[in-house]
Amino acid sequence: MTSEEFRRHGHHVVDWLADYFANVREFPVLPATTPGELTDRLPASAPEIPEPPERILADFEQLIFPACTLWNHPRFHGFFSVSASPPGVLAEMLVAGLNMNGMLWQSSPAATELEQVTLDWLRQWLGLEQNTWFGIIYDTASTGVMHAIIAARHHMHPEARDQGNPDGLVLYTSDQAHSSVEKGAIAAGIGQRNVRKIATDAGFSMKPEALRGAIAEDLAAGRRPFCVVATVGTTPTAAVDPIPAIVAIAREFGLWLHVDAAYGGLAAMVETHRHHFAGCSQADSIGVNPHKWLFTPVDLSILYTRHPATLRGAFSLVPDYLRTAGAPRAINLMDYGMQLGRRFRALKLWFVMRAYGRQGCESILRAQLEMTRDLAERIAVHPSFEVCAPVHLSLVCLRYRGSDEQNRELLQRLNQSGTAFLSPTTLNGRFVLRWAIGNFQTTQADIDMVWDALQRLAAGL
Ligand SMILES: Cc1ncc(COP(=O)(O)O)c(C=O)c1O
Repeated sequence: MTSEEFRRHGHHVVDWLADYFANVREFPVLPATTPGELTDRLPASAPEIPEPPERILADFEQLIFPACTLWNHPRFHGFFSVSASPPGVLAEMLVAGLNMNGMLWQSSPAATELEQVTLDWLRQWLGLEQNTWFGIIYDTASTGVMHAIIAARHHMHPEARDQGNPDGLVLYTSDQAHSSVEKGAIAAGIGQRNVRKIATDAGFSMKPEALRGAIAEDLAAGRRPFCVVATVGTTPTAAVDPIPAIVAIAREFGLWLHVDAAYGGLAAMVETHRHHFAGCSQADSIGVNPHKWLFTPVDLSILYTRHPATLRGAFSLVPDYLRTAGAPRAINLMDYGMQLGRRFRALKLWFVMRAYGRQGCESILRAQLEMTRDLAERIAVHPSFEVCAPVHLSLVCLRYRGSDEQNRELLQRLNQSGTAFLSPTTLNGRFVLRWAIGNFQTTQADIDMVWDALQRLAAGL
């Protein structure tokens, strides 16, 4: 592809994306496709000879796009509603073109330094103290929690780096924690059987006294508690664990505390919701995902820790070919994690933070939190629906006052209509619909449209 061809096709792609952002509501959120349909329409093997970009782009529009679930749709309310804003998308294009690998400072000074600068900016937006927190970008919160667990293990038992977990290190999290905590423990060699899932209260938050009891029991049995993972904004209900009480317990027993604030942590930017983040600054590490709730394209997840030397101690292993002359300000981010090669992810966060500014980001988050609260109030007074969990952030768990089967049917009909996409969870053994709000383009009209559709579909059950 010549430069001129690239320019021409690049303009076409940007035009397509600009139209997509402008007209996204015209498309169904969930594609009307069946399993295997796209595969059957694609050739079984790759082309032998070059194909013209026009044809590839046309196939993208005609074959691939119709099979896409539109995560960037303002009525995508499943899982956590994420969004890639145009400034973040522009940065992604530049990152792809530069194709830098930020493993060493020398291999990409800009990637290394911009990562540190941008994460320090976000630290300030979250209200975390200066000179205390070191931030690093990984792909996902799952990777982040695995790194936190391995750092915690190294902190408490450096010998585990060589020996694994022969003597029963034990990790504590709640029964509402994301599955990535357990996966992280598996990857760290802690073993699933050494993960204690602490009971939660009626609002789905971890019970501190149950945590204390479990730790005491393990200590009495000669096992070695080493880490607690608490959550601000759990996946099923966006519940918030009582961080100050958990901090106190972690301190009392000398355990590393990681806070999974992958989704909920960003609410610390909004004055009215900052209290959910209280106590987090006392944690040893915190995970926050701008790709979940800060309009940054997937993937970009941050691990902040107050113990960068421990993280480095847990992971640093430098083969000869990667040795470089040291300089005090030249950090090599490959030393702080599993991966060697690193994408230049910081650029997209830098674009987003500059393009919206703190006030712009805060006002979008605040509007979403207000829309969520209003929605929950409307659902709560509707005779045929109920709100199934306290609403702290931008997620409502709701249920039609009927059977599980009817709720399953309702969700399926809504999703298949293309109007919106919601995802389910199970609470107290019952099938519940989760309605997450987080896309930067979602308006009150979108929420009204989905609520109307739900009521209409429920009436026809
Ligand atoms: C609270 C929480 N933590 C962690 C994760 C994992 O996120 P990721 O996809 O970035 O690994 C999720 C995913 O939804 C989540 O809700």
